[in-house]
Amino acid sequence: MKSMTLPAYAKLNLTLDILRKRPDGYHDLRMVMQSIALHDTVTVRTETGDGDITVRTDREDLPGGPGNIAWKAARAFYDAVGMENGGTEILLEKRIPMQAGMAGGSADGAAVLRALRSLYAPEMPRQELERIGLQVGGDVPFCVRGGTALAEGRGEVLTDLPPLPACTIVVCKPEFGLSTPALFGRVRVEKLGRRPDHDAMKQALAAGNLGAVARQMGNVFEEVLTAEESREIAYLKDVMLRCGALNAVMTGSGPTVFGLFAQKEQAERAAQTLRSRYAQLFLTTPVQRV
Ligand code: C5P
Repeated sequence: MKSMTLPAYAKLNLTLDILRKRPDGYHDLRMVMQSIALHDTVTVRTETGDGDITVRTDREDLPGGPGNIAWKAARAFYDAVGMENGGTEILLEKRIPMQAGMAGGSADGAAVLRALRSLYAPEMPRQELERIGLQVGGDVPFCVRGGTALAEGRGEVLTDLPPLPACTIVVCKPEFGLSTPALFGRVRVEKLGRRPDHDAMKQALAAGNLGAVARQMGNVFEEVLTAEESREIAYLKDVMLRCGALNAVMTGSGPTVFGLFAQKEQAERAAQTLRSRYAQLFLTTPVQRV
């Protein structure tokens, strides 16, 4: 038996823009993605003898079989390298909130791919692993790579960017859910108003200027929220901004909101203010390499 345990880092969207609807029904996106220290822990055991892939998690609401991204990632890896699966057990210790716009499932899938590559194909280029990841989900290639990156297409066309300067990040997930397909369904690309300025964001990152990066944060999904959804998102942003956040936005297809803070004490104050109302609340930092 072989075994490997890896952290699966969550991601945040510093920006998210939707460029166009594609003939295949997906949308072309442009986003700046950032890995954060908040992570699940993924253990992959192979050659367990029974020829199955099994996924065990500490969350009852997650599927253990082919419905789990971690399962799909293992299957895709074995198919891509043409290798017999000699029995694979995947153990997920979840900390990343689910259906939160933080790529929790994709991060687990990417960790499975990285573990299997380390065990069986250490010479495989990262780009090849990212290509296998895309078969599993649009956010998986970024999660394979990690750090700070521009993601285009469905998220698979990745360009490394200079790292997000050191900061403290408050992440808060409200209890209501937002369905990704439903949100995409509400978008009329030609009606979207203010779009993130990616040239300005790249310049801000290149200059290592946290304040300038924060000014360029933005997510067009915030424009298609209902009044009720917007109210809670606005409340979270307001608390973070009043506590000193440089900026606060929704990540991915939400509903999680995060704020960037130059001062840890201010981030702690924001977290303290929100803690009585929100159970899924995290203080975290950027991660540069996975
Ligand atoms: O990637 P995920 O499985 O979360 O996507 C769910 C749905 O969101 C897709 O089936 C599609 O309807 C929509 N989507 C999209 N364009 C993307 C990603 C997702 O239209 N780039």
